Amino acid sequence: MNSLIATARALMNRGKGLLAMDESVGTCNRRLGEFGIAQTEESRRRYRELLVTAPGLSDSISGAILFDETLQQRTQDGVLFIDVLRRNGILVGIKVDVGAKALAGHPGERVTEGLDGLRERLAHYSSLGARFAKWRAVLAIGDGLPGPACTLVNAHALARYATLCQEAKIVPIVEPEVLMEGVHTLARCGEVTAEVLHHVFDQCYRQGVILEAMILKPNMVLPGVSSTEASTLDEIADATIGCLARAVPAAVAGVAFLSGGQPAQLATARLNALNLRTNSSRTVHEVPFPSIPWPLTFSFGRALQQPALSLWAGCDANRDVAQRALLHRARCNGAATRGAYRSAMDMEGLAI
Ligand code: 13P
Repeated sequence: MNSLIATARALMNRGKGLLAMDESVGTCNRRLGEFGIAQTEESRRRYRELLVTAPGLSDSISGAILFDETLQQRTQDGVLFIDVLRRNGILVGIKVDVGAKALAGHPGERVTEGLDGLRERLAHYSSLGARFAKWRAVLAIGDGLPGPACTLVNAHALARYATLCQEAKIVPIVEPEVLMEGVHTLARCGEVTAEVLHHVFDQCYRQGVILEAMILKPNMVLPGVSSTEASTLDEIADATIGCLARAVPAAVAGVAFLSGGQPAQLATARLNALNLRTNSSRTVHEVPFPSIPWPLTFSFGRALQQPALSLWAGCDANRDVAQRALLHRARCNGAATRGAYRSAMDMEGLAI
């Protein structure tokens, strides 16, 4: 168990976060297609090679989450991506769910699948060098959504996945994502996120998940993308920290936020505001702002990759500039984990 806890702590190393590059074949192809890049296995390999070989990535990245296909992929020189990462001191993670599927009897809601055969797959991934894993549940906010059944079955599956991971000596990243899509308010997102987290930790408790050896990957508490509500960085930080303080046990090893489709710089600024808030001695409702026990970092996919992908656009001549864009975002987010990000860093970064 000590080695699992040590891995969880290493992932939460101060000043660093996680690179989520575990897009399934379909999602990766869709993202490549948005930039007119051929949707082939070779394009996916070339793109991912660019990511894992970015020089200095480990300065701000403690772990990379891969997809099954990527675990077997190699650089042009024949080196396995996982070996490139490990040589650079980046821990290898693997997405192990098989996606969110329609929840029978509950139109518009989904449950994440992948528990069948998971014990065997985890043993295989562990033998290949995976030290941590990810499972993502998705919950939409809408009229009467998410319903209690959707919340419960996803929480149950997340805890089952987490116990299987820990049995296999793999640190589980538990990701219950409340989606940004919708017209809901900041307050409504906070209520739903709290409800979902209460169920997740209830199931973790009932099923015996060792909290010290797991990482929570939540959404930030945000108003819906189609909402007319404008929330400041501080309002978002207060809503997010208040929600986590009430719902997440202190023993959890750390919190690594997903970006969920937020613009890259805004996700960084919000992470920074979260960390600034936890370091301040301010009060809310005339009581001290809750001090929180876990490191707050990032496990971003799009908010780390998007600038690099758009600059690369499938062209080898753009490889260096794309890698610099990835490193720049990683550094900005690393700074944000210490509350040390300033928007001027992005102004300078524009000169990449
Ligand atoms: P985004 O940061 O793009 O939301 O991706 C994070 C992730 O791993 C989703 O499962």
